[in-house]
Amino acid sequence: MRIVFIGPPGSGKGTQCKRLVASLGLPQLSTGEMLRQVKGQETAVSRWVANHLASGELAPDHLVMRILANRLAEQDCQSGALLDGFPRTAIQAELLEEHLAQTGQQLDLVIELKAERQELVKRLTKRASIENRPEDAQQAIETRLKSYQTQTTPVVEFYKERNLLTSIDAMQTQDEVHEQIRGVVTRLNRAV
Ligand code: AP5
Ligand code: MG
Repeated sequence: MRIVFIGPPGSGKGTQCKRLVASLGLPQLSTGEMLRQVKGQETAVSRWVANHLASGELAPDHLVMRILANRLAEQDCQSGALLDGFPRTAIQAELLEEHLAQTGQQLDLVIELKAERQELVKRLTKRASIENRPEDAQQAIETRLKSYQTQTTPVVEFYKERNLLTSIDAMQTQDEVHEQIRGVVTRLNRAV
């Protein structure tokens, strides 16, 4: 089963994917995490990626697609994966659709996590004080929220049109959100 998680920064994509890894036996593919790993390698590309992350701007579509495609080709992704934070633009959604068609794979479900701006800022500001992530600096949070509105909301429409979208209220507690996602996945498993 392949599931895409869409939601603004702080909506809980990473948190919820982590909880599903064990119960579904699927790997979590976080493009944010992959880019942070590139950042750690001391190369020209890594310095450039580091700047992108710190500013809160999205990395280029084709670069992220290439990193994700390499990961999807690995053995542990053959029976499915949890896509955490990809696609984030309409172009990425099209690239993913093309890639899956070419590799004979399919997307089963898209989960949108919805939360209010005030709550997102509160969660990310709290995390900034604990983890010191450069992309959680106040200005970068603003940039990420804005790019979600302008660049990622069209992706929600893209999947709505394909009847793959389920929206979940991410203002609830982590346990409540988890239970709802499990319910959706269980129903889908029964239907296939
Ligand atoms: P990425 O690491 O994916 O960051 P993000 O999606 O912007 O935001 P977060 O990971 O912070 O949010 P999340 O929804 O995962 O929430 P989380 O579970 O962590 O990407 C980083 C950067 O990489 C991007 O800005 C971009 O530059 C680049 N990038 C990544 N993917 C890309 C792509 N496809 N294309 C181009 N560029 C890309 O939770 C957040 C906090 O809230 C935690 O502290 C958590 O404990 C708390 N929390 C979670 N759920 C709840 C709840 N229900 N109640 C209370 N607190 C909660
Ligand atoms: Mg995350």
